Amino acid sequence: MEVKFKPKIFIHSLLSDDLLSRLEKNFDIDHHDTIKSILSGNELLDRVKNVEGILVQSALIDKTLIEACPNLKVICNVGVGFDNIDANFCTKMGIQVTNTPGILNDAVADMSMALLLAVARRVPEGDRIVRSGGFKSNFYHLLWGADLRGENLGIIGMGSIGQDVAKRAIPFGLNIKYHNRNRLSKNIESSLNGEWMSLEGLLKSCRYILILCPLTKETKHLITIKEFESMKKDSFLINIARGPIVKESDLIIALENKLISGCALDVYEFEPSYDKKLANMDNVVLAPHAGSASFKARTGMVELAAKNVENFFIEKKVLNPVNTIN
Ligand code: DGY
Repeated sequence: MEVKFKPKIFIHSLLSDDLLSRLEKNFDIDHHDTIKSILSGNELLDRVKNVEGILVQSALIDKTLIEACPNLKVICNVGVGFDNIDANFCTKMGIQVTNTPGILNDAVADMSMALLLAVARRVPEGDRIVRSGGFKSNFYHLLWGADLRGENLGIIGMGSIGQDVAKRAIPFGLNIKYHNRNRLSKNIESSLNGEWMSLEGLLKSCRYILILCPLTKETKHLITIKEFESMKKDSFLINIARGPIVKESDLIIALENKLISGCALDVYEFEPSYDKKLANMDNVVLAPHAGSASFKARTGMVELAAKNVENFFIEKKVLNPVNTIN
């Protein structure tokens, strides 16, 4: 079925030509390709004032922007995390918000393990040694890293991605501990041999701590100097969720004072900026918010967000609602 009057949709995302042609059959599309740039607040505002739908990747859709769009009915986020969208205000305004869960689980779980291994086994440091001509001989004293077998992996935020990380971590010999608002069912807990812990208990007892929870008012600055002080000195923090969950200035104090052994970051408190002190520390691994950056995941996310736009206008029912509207 095709829609009679083409609703105006603004797309702020990369998009294949095929997908664009498909959407153009039913929608009046204005497309900004995010391969070129990510639009700032005012640039975005100029493009969305008259639209009924927005398909968005990596841009802030705040109250001011929403208020400036009287016809807006649906916002389809290309991402599972939707902290870039004021979803509560959308609910008040009767605007449907959707996200892209599931499709990126493998990519993010793989990258979680990649970052954990990279910081534990000092992979980027070794790469730098070889590139800079420092590989003179097979020195046995070089680059001793941390072992995984028998250590505790503490996962903060044990949703479906956390569980997929746990499934990957078990064959490495890691013991699964987790902290989540809701405990997993007994069946899932026992299949992962996972143990629920309070945040304090997890921080005190885990060598590897992986952040995977969403960014909310409650999780902003979940990890500050107080938490670093309670962590093991030989522990590693891996953040692949959202930057503001960790207070970056406190992370630097923790690293400078050897309160922890190292960290791997895919996200930053003031993204895309980050404190350059991090770049000068050998025990820090840095990635550019690339957790879901695999071919399958990123193409699948855009496709799923597009399906949500189509379903909203054509089927009157979206696939991945994050809010309920009347
Ligand atoms: C997500 O889906 O939330 C990833 O962080 C990509 O932005």
